[in-house]
Amino acid sequence: MISREIIDEIVFRNDIEQVIGSYVTLKRAGSNLNGLCPFHNEKTPSFTVFPGTKSFYCFGCGSGGDVITFIMRAENLDYKEALEFLAARAGITIPDDNDSPVEKTIPRKRIYEMNMDAAKFFRSCLFDEGYGREAMAYLHNERKLSMATIKHFGLGYSPNNAWLLTNHMKKLGYTDDELVTGFLCGRSQKSGRLYDYFRNRVIFPIIDTSGNVVAFGGRVMDDSKPKYLNTSDTPAFKKSRHLFALNYAKKHCEEQMMLCEGYMDVIAMHAAGFENAVATLGTAITSEQARIFAKYTKKVIICYDADNAGQTAAKKAMRLLDEVGVEVRVLKIPGAKDPDEYIKKYGVESFKKAIGESKTGFDYQLDRIISSYNLEIAEDKIKASEEATALIVAAYSQVQRDIYVRKAAEKLGVSAEAMKADVDRQRKKLAREFRQKELSDAKMSVKNLGNRTNTEAAKHIRANANEEQLLGLMLVFDEYRRDAANGSAGISVDDFVTEFGRRVFVTLCELENSESGFSQAVLNQHFIDKEFDLIKKIEMERRQLGRNDQAVFEACINGLKQEKRRIEQSGEDISAQLQAARAHLQKKKNKEN
Ligand code: GTP
Ligand code: MN
Repeated sequence: MISREIIDEIVFRNDIEQVIGSYVTLKRAGSNLNGLCPFHNEKTPSFTVFPGTKSFYCFGCGSGGDVITFIMRAENLDYKEALEFLAARAGITIPDDNDSPVEKTIPRKRIYEMNMDAAKFFRSCLFDEGYGREAMAYLHNERKLSMATIKHFGLGYSPNNAWLLTNHMKKLGYTDDELVTGFLCGRSQKSGRLYDYFRNRVIFPIIDTSGNVVAFGGRVMDDSKPKYLNTSDTPAFKKSRHLFALNYAKKHCEEQMMLCEGYMDVIAMHAAGFENAVATLGTAITSEQARIFAKYTKKVIICYDADNAGQTAAKKAMRLLDEVGVEVRVLKIPGAKDPDEYIKKYGVESFKKAIGESKTGFDYQLDRIISSYNLEIAEDKIKASEEATALIVAAYSQVQRDIYVRKAAEKLGVSAEAMKADVDRQRKKLAREFRQKELSDAKMSVKNLGNRTNTEAAKHIRANANEEQLLGLMLVFDEYRRDAANGSAGISVDDFVTEFGRRVFVTLCELENSESGFSQAVLNQHFIDKEFDLIKKIEMERRQLGRNDQAVFEACINGLKQEKRRIEQSGEDISAQLQAARAHLQKKKNKEN
């Protein structure tokens, strides 16, 4: 367990406004801040940061919490990792946990050191006349890389020997655990002995924007499989959050960046003077990587391989980049399988021309649709028009849709009026579906029929409403929490009906009565994610209502006590109450439609 003092210190030193502000563009709205929620898709901001209570809440998707919860979600970390992340951010050292020496994690810095030493070793092997001859010949002759490029990217070679690196690193003082955790060595299951992870491969160091070597990729020099080995995630590296060559590209990226599939494409592009090229690390682009692009540039040119896999991946990249507001172009490279090959075959000038002719996301997709049908056949033409319509419907602005309709209609050889009518009809239909869904979602949450965290809420609608009011008051106002916790309010855990309500009540009272008192950060530790979301929702709904007098607090207590009595006496017909609620909803819905 990380001590309470440390947690408080971490929360204190990580200003929630600043932390969230580095993920979400926030606009001030009174004493709070608004922005687009990073946890669900939305076009109007319903994500709110409350600096006063050091918390956030999204009125759209209901996620909420404190700075720790935010980092857990945003960085996909567990509670402890999120604390470590924020501690590192604020320059706080978390004291070693003596309870579990086996699981002691290896500090990031140690892994960076280790990787740097390994990178130097790989490089010296590549430049060694004996060990490196074949690899050097491969890079020069087959991949056409100049000595300057090889040095620029710090390329290396791991000789065909199982213990060369291991022994070297051990001599430098690295322990077995460090080498295995850092993914430089594997451990033999039989003998427990370490062996080099990369063998007989050309090595590509992956360097972050601060210049740390965070991982390696290693390529074979023939057709054997697997073609690449890559460092798996380590305490210092998550591949979904890095881009190859961003350390260089970040200096050339203001206007646009190029997104490639492979290391070799990036290297070829940099060598040809396109130093704004980066690649993902052997995986499809993630939303985290899309946000990195959004941070560095306005426009991304997707330079994926010409094969089907590459083109499918391009579609996903287009969507993710569009979501973060980056303008997208797609490069076409006829006559070559990838940019690396294209540059070699047709030269830099021709590649530059191809970049100039790269298509917008819409044009690219429209072309794909058109080329996959035979427009001479009526049925095909109809299908192609339908797909084009679907594409246009998704566009946000009317002007955009208007331009797209005309373009698509012309290319497909159909009338623009007809196509526009189809688009409008589709949009109306979508809007209707969306409104209906919103309406039913809202009703569900209001009536607790959609509450999967507190599953008893739907059975005990009135009791739950009182419990939520009461807990909301205790969460928002110190004096109600104090009175409930010291017994002077006349409410006890036995008055609660739902198990969840009981648990939240007890936790609030215990924290209030503890030496260090109540705080959001500690409350967080007692509940799993979705429970904490519900607590946050209860708090926020209460906060919206504003301050009121003691009478409301007392009325909640009395209401809850009454309900509890009624349930105990009647054994309550739960299903009848549920039925009534559903009928009520249905009736209201019918009226509204
Ligand atoms: P060349 O084929 O040498 O031109 O390399 P490339 O970098 O263009 O590779 P390719 O287009 O085949 O693949 C794109 C990226 O996917 C590579 O840079 C690697 O990051 C990753 N990758 C390719 N093959 C493998 C593999 O077998 N295993 C893993 N883990 N990653 C791979
Ligand atoms: Mn390639």
